[in-house]
Amino acid sequence: MSDSSLRQGYGPAQVELLARVERDLRARMSAAKPRRLAHSLSVARTAEELALLYGEDPFEARLAGLLHDWDKVLDGEEQLAEAMRQGIDLGVELSLVLPLLHGLTAAGRLPRLYPELPESVIRAIRLHTLGSARMTGLDMILFVADGIEPLRKASPGIARVREMLARGASLPELYWESFASGVSFVIETRRYLYPGTIETYNQIVLERARDAARGQR
Ligand SMILES: [Fe+2]
Repeated sequence: MSDSSLRQGYGPAQVELLARVERDLRARMSAAKPRRLAHSLSVARTAEELALLYGEDPFEARLAGLLHDWDKVLDGEEQLAEAMRQGIDLGVELSLVLPLLHGLTAAGRLPRLYPELPESVIRAIRLHTLGSARMTGLDMILFVADGIEPLRKASPGIARVREMLARGASLPELYWESFASGVSFVIETRRYLYPGTIETYNQIVLERARDAARGQR
């Protein structure tokens, strides 16, 4: 395992699991999807760093980063078939929300492959495409790390989140900017916007307004 996990003082079982997951990920992605592999490793490093910065569990953050795109090696047809096999129901035709499915299907499959994965990690993976108005610290870390990992080309939204991080913004602020930029991007590119995403967006707007009224932000 790399020096960084030793630096975090991970226990032997944690080091072993991280090494096994990384080995499996390389076997799954290195030939077919080398860029996806590089992205996954970069998200893992970014998530680990964010966890250390925001007082979350760096081990869980790193695991979630490594595994979040587990099902992205599947092509669109295979992702759809897997979602149907798992009985995933988002209330719309699944082919309309193809980019959202891989987080849900991975979360459905990974516990059988890695029974020792913490539920918090599975949950962060499940929510990394959809987001939610009820995100834990770890959920937000994976969502943000996926957007800003250094290999990802900077869109204006990504550049804003990176600047906010450099200025010391809070984790909920980074998540909100990442989520809202993602919604804007779907609209800018004139693609189908999942109604559940609009609902989540509105929920967060209302909660932020309520918090602001209570003077919490
Ligand atoms: Fe990703």
